[in-house]
Amino acid sequence: MTDLATMAEVKGRVINVSNRLPVLIRKHAGGPRVERSSGGLATALEAGWRHQRGVWIGWAGTSSTQHIEPLLLKASQSRSYTLKSVSLTEDEIAKFYAGFANEIIWPLFHDMPSRCNFEPEYWEVYQRVNRKFGKAVSETATDEDFVWVHDYHLMLTAEAMRQAGVVAPMGFFLHTPFPGPDIFEKLPWKKPILKALLQFDAIGFQSLHDCTNFVGCLHRLLPEAVVEAGRPHHQVSFAGRRTVIGTFPIGIDFEEFTKQAAQPEIEAHSAEIRRRLSGDTLVLGVDRLDYTKGIPERLKSFRLLLRKYPKQRGHITLVQVVVPSREEIPNYKHLRREVELLVSQINGEFTQPGWVPVHYIHRNLGREELLAYYRAADIGLVTPLKDGMNLVAKEFCAAQIDERGVLIVSEFAGAGPELRSGAILVNPNDFTQVAEALHEATQMSAQEKRNRMSVLRDIVKEHNVQRWIRSFLLAVPSGDAVASKDAAIPESGSVVSFRHRRDPDMPGVALIATALAPHDRPRFGIGRDAKLRVISRAAGND
Ligand code: ADP
Ligand code: F6P
Repeated sequence: MTDLATMAEVKGRVINVSNRLPVLIRKHAGGPRVERSSGGLATALEAGWRHQRGVWIGWAGTSSTQHIEPLLLKASQSRSYTLKSVSLTEDEIAKFYAGFANEIIWPLFHDMPSRCNFEPEYWEVYQRVNRKFGKAVSETATDEDFVWVHDYHLMLTAEAMRQAGVVAPMGFFLHTPFPGPDIFEKLPWKKPILKALLQFDAIGFQSLHDCTNFVGCLHRLLPEAVVEAGRPHHQVSFAGRRTVIGTFPIGIDFEEFTKQAAQPEIEAHSAEIRRRLSGDTLVLGVDRLDYTKGIPERLKSFRLLLRKYPKQRGHITLVQVVVPSREEIPNYKHLRREVELLVSQINGEFTQPGWVPVHYIHRNLGREELLAYYRAADIGLVTPLKDGMNLVAKEFCAAQIDERGVLIVSEFAGAGPELRSGAILVNPNDFTQVAEALHEATQMSAQEKRNRMSVLRDIVKEHNVQRWIRSFLLAVPSGDAVASKDAAIPESGSVVSFRHRRDPDMPGVALIATALAPHDRPRFGIGRDAKLRVISRAAGND
């Protein structure tokens, strides 16, 4: 098996750091048990990290400290890397995890600021827990290792690790979207967060849109940061440090999904699901029960289809599988009630003898059952209102080994633009468009379905999780190159650069943009009168 870290010239180990470990410890009547964590980060990273060496540092999903170490030790024995836990108290779970991470950053980064609860105490605890993670890394990392931090729970850890004496190169990958400046600037702690992020040596985003938003936030909120655009990655210089920033769309373990989906037991299970649905068109939704996933909107679109096209009644079934998530947060409790009310309203309106339009499954499915549904489905309906990537869309394609299914995907998920050449792209807020897309998919010829699915499977196969890991590790500068105190931007004729600074000629001006090659750069600024003026060209003519 390829050692991805060695290929990327990491001398020591890779230390993955995320809020959640790939396993969690849950209490049961017979004592605590180890279970698989749900969510895209855990699924993708665990698949990509199979057979790789290193350490994975994170929280085991409980406030109890009893039995954790022996259970994690046991779980580590079946893995090529070691699991190391960071324990969180009840108070930290409430204010760091549920509070700052999931009542502030999660809604804000998904463009839903009205759902944020900007509680000042959450920020205090967020800083404290980030220091705790930083300390845990400092107890493990050597200078030769590479520390890879994941997701919005841990945006301050580079600062914390450096304060705790870690000198290993460190990168950060954001699995969620990054919002534009108009949204991000609502965050009371916007500047400390941007500054802390720039303590990493590399920052990765899911899409070009997210990366561009981050640059936009730097321009507006941290004009001292100098952004040097390049291909394929940009560089930011701030406070004597350089950070590589770029786009690294996450993938899945395509080969593994395909292999498992082809197993005879999965095929039999999938055939059984189809038989029980009497050959109806099976539309499948699979999500964490999260308001960003657009589940009520999806149900309303399906209801519209049944209202608009009576001939579909009795012949099409939506199977909506949701895994319970963040149940202690009020927004999530309301969502569950809203979804369950809509399901019962739709079923009440349309059910006929022998046909129930919506099958609602509220539990975590095992891998086999999930694959059987993916294989059995005729239409994968993936319509988040906003999503970093959305791995369900990719898993559905990988499991479609018969190339029978059609993927309908939201234009606001990272997966939308990436899969647009084979999928039907929709705006999840446009119920009519989604209903029409469903109708179109039911009318599509077998040949067109095959053509589209084959394109999709090629994309998912090529952009797999192994490639994601390799490309991120390769983008990180080596330890020697990163921490230069005088990290000046080299003048290069081939780069386009942007910089912001105050200009003595233009009092009140915060913006000076320089673009194009040095010999050809117009310089312009905005005066107190808010008008944009060319200040000078490099040749000296104003
Ligand atoms: P997120 O990271 O926001 O949860 P993704 O779509 O990227 O969203 O990843 C979700 C992951 O969780 C996928 O790997 C998917 O297979 C898994 N998943 C979602 N719902 C269920 C469920 N009901 N049962 C089992 N796995 C699920
Ligand atoms: O990026 C998606 C993500 O937030 C992951 O960070 C997380 O592991 C997953 O969704 C599931 O959420 P939670 O850890 O809150 O259960």
